[in-house]
Amino acid sequence: MDTRNAREGHLQSVQAADTMQAVVFDDYGPPDVLRLAELPMPQAGAGEVRVRVRAAGVQPADCATRSGWFAQRGIGLEPFPRQLGNEFAGVIDQVGDGVRGFAPGDEVLGWTTARAYAEALTVPAAQIVRKPLGMSWAVAGALSASGQTAHTAVEELGIGPGDTVLVHAAAGGVGTVAVQLARLRGARVIGTASRENHDYLRSLGAEPVLYGPGLDERVRALAPKGVDAALDASGRGALDASIALGIDRDRIGTLVAFEDVQRLGVRGIRSRRSRERLEELAALHEAGRLRIHVRDIYPLAYAAIAHRDVENGHGRGKVVLMVYSTFGHAL
Ligand SMILES: NC(=O)c1ccc[n+]([C@@H]2O[C@H](COP(=O)([O-])OP(=O)(O)OC[C@H]3O[C@@H](n4cnc5c(N)ncnc54)[C@H](OP(=O)(O)O)[C@@H]3O)[C@@H](O)[C@H]2O)c1
Repeated sequence: MDTRNAREGHLQSVQAADTMQAVVFDDYGPPDVLRLAELPMPQAGAGEVRVRVRAAGVQPADCATRSGWFAQRGIGLEPFPRQLGNEFAGVIDQVGDGVRGFAPGDEVLGWTTARAYAEALTVPAAQIVRKPLGMSWAVAGALSASGQTAHTAVEELGIGPGDTVLVHAAAGGVGTVAVQLARLRGARVIGTASRENHDYLRSLGAEPVLYGPGLDERVRALAPKGVDAALDASGRGALDASIALGIDRDRIGTLVAFEDVQRLGVRGIRSRRSRERLEELAALHEAGRLRIHVRDIYPLAYAAIAHRDVENGHGRGKVVLMVYSTFGHAL
């Protein structure tokens, strides 16, 4: 068999595979409940594509789903075994009826709901965009969920030129993008982080400040004329400090402390994802104006270790799972 025939033969066998590996869990609990399972290969329905996943970002929300934190609050009560993962990048290998503009072999990134830690997934074509050629798989896999959350927040808080913005947990997956988007909109950004991440925040264009007791005083010393808006990506004392700074409550947004939203009269911000939003983020990255820091990469089989990494609550940027299966690389 010549090389071309061999490749085509391999592709056909890949496309015909009737199972795939995915990370699942059978009960709520610590990271060790995660295991690899053989699941039926999903088939693209009308309006959908099937993607051979190359990379999937890990979010704190995945850990909260796995641990049962969400279930205790009546959120997302799907039957077991359950999958995880909301952001991914990969290669299309099947296109459903009615899909225009995408074909097998296209490299894409996108978002889903609890399906991305897998060798393959199906997703509406409206939830993917083309991966820029120069974007690494790890970055592409880590952009769609956290990036769009940051984009939504900066938009909802109306960040613009002349604003001084306080970003809590600025070095994290969401904070990293929020800082840069706020800077691109012409704002001055003060970001909270541990001392280890202060140089990192400076590299993103933010002025770093330590979180913890006395935060409002430290921020006041940096911005004596006041702060115009605050984004809470931390949930740990961030709202109290923002209120103590006298920021208009309509311009204080939390991604985390929804239980305090009504009582304090601040904004609860939930990610609103769209192809346009993701295209804008991908274009900013391609133009060298948005940096995504990936701090750790783990193979799919090491999802439990990746969860421990995210769950420790510290560190900069994103943690990513990579899919190294042979068929995932064939296209
Ligand atoms: N509402 C939504 O739609 C939505 C969407 C996505 C995410 N979220 C939520 O947003 C939050 C941030 O997500 P993420 O992906 O950015 O998380 P992440 O990457 O795990 O961020 C962790 C960051 O928190 C910082 N941190 C730790 N302790 C802190 C403290 N006491 N005060 C302030 N910062 C502290 C750490 O900084 P150091 O390393 O310097 O300590 C670290 O950089 C999570 O709670 C997530 O569930 C909500």
